[in-house]
Amino acid sequence: MIGSGAREHALAWALAKSADVVVTPGNPGIAAHGITCVNTPSTELDAELFVIGPDQPVVDGLADLLRAQGKTVVGPGADGARLEGSKAYLKEFLASAKVPTAAYGVFDDENEALAFLATMSPPYVIKTDGLAAGKGVLVTGDLVEASNDVREKLSGRAFGAAGRTVVIEEGLDGPECSLMVLCDGVNVTALVPSQDFKRLGDGDTGANTGGMGAYAPMTALSANEVDEIMERVVAPTIRELTRRGIDYRGVLYAGIMMTSAGPKILEYNARFGDPETQVLVPLYGDGLFDLLLRVGEGRLEGALPEATGAAVTVILASHGYPQSPRRGDVIAGLGNDGQLALATEGVTVFHAGTQVDADGHFVTAGGRVLAVTGVGATLAEARRRAYEGAALITFEGRVMRSDIALAVA
Ligand code: AMP
Ligand code: GLY
Repeated sequence: MIGSGAREHALAWALAKSADVVVTPGNPGIAAHGITCVNTPSTELDAELFVIGPDQPVVDGLADLLRAQGKTVVGPGADGARLEGSKAYLKEFLASAKVPTAAYGVFDDENEALAFLATMSPPYVIKTDGLAAGKGVLVTGDLVEASNDVREKLSGRAFGAAGRTVVIEEGLDGPECSLMVLCDGVNVTALVPSQDFKRLGDGDTGANTGGMGAYAPMTALSANEVDEIMERVVAPTIRELTRRGIDYRGVLYAGIMMTSAGPKILEYNARFGDPETQVLVPLYGDGLFDLLLRVGEGRLEGALPEATGAAVTVILASHGYPQSPRRGDVIAGLGNDGQLALATEGVTVFHAGTQVDADGHFVTAGGRVLAVTGVGATLAEARRRAYEGAALITFEGRVMRSDIALAVA
């Protein structure tokens, strides 16, 4: 397992139910949970299966390096990962695949971008072409703010090289869903649909963040709607990948908006979502290793492990997140294993940004600190457990939304 966040903690924890797992580099919470963490680069390790967690190594072509060594990998090569790594490439790809998405223009010239923007109607949507840690998208009804954002991005001031090309999009409206699809190069299977909460504050207010919580399954999405997404969005995408000679083996994460004109794709990611993974993997019991091995080996056909139950995850973030997160606040409520000191049924704590201080206490060490996942037979039970667990963990300046999955549980 490659990576160091709560997503990788959740994946490693789920894989460890049926495999020996080593995480590089991992984090102190994963190690405390009894899962081996090493600092050895993945290209110097040997394993039956390599799973790449974060976006950057996938986009940088780590899967290509590993496959060149004969390794079995979950994660597309650099060619497939361009779907996430460049929004301009994504839009061109979607157009040639005839996948429904927002109308758009791509610009690196300020005057041309501003002239195009003036022809659009609100809400205005401005995206950096390159990776921006989930923070490269502005959605605003204010043309002045949108114009300033275009200038900040194109000048390189806001996001460096990632922003020197921007995609300006038609604003879409409707409920959003995260549909992660496993792809073995030929066969696809959708994982349970989930929903994440990107804004900092209750009621979807405040700044965009990496995600403040999530739940699965997204019950508002019917089986018919999932089928519609698979037919109208995923299937033509896979055909286009094949047409371009891209052997995509990994997770294809579709960020979808269910508009009145049907599902439209907002983005593809070439990896598991964070924090959606923290609510997906608990639903697959000990079946995750088998599932991912079959992705890597190109054997996804046939019966697959089924998901059961529901899960809700609540993010505990540090003081000042997302602009200027503070580090070093002592976390109360965790035992030596990094889990709840007062064990609560159906709750697992995944570490995103923690460290162990000289006294052996867990302290905050990043923006998002912990993801507290509750599982249960229903979303209501999962939600109650997640918030009961979260209430037992305290630190100075803790930031938490109180309405994750409230409307559905
Ligand atoms: P992205 O990283 O492209 O998924 O964008 C981040 C967030 O911005 C999405 O989850 C949506 O909430 C919002 N967004 C992106 N594209 C659009 C669009 N065309 N219309 C409205 N909202 C959008
Ligand atoms: N939760 C959104 C993402 O992983 O990109």
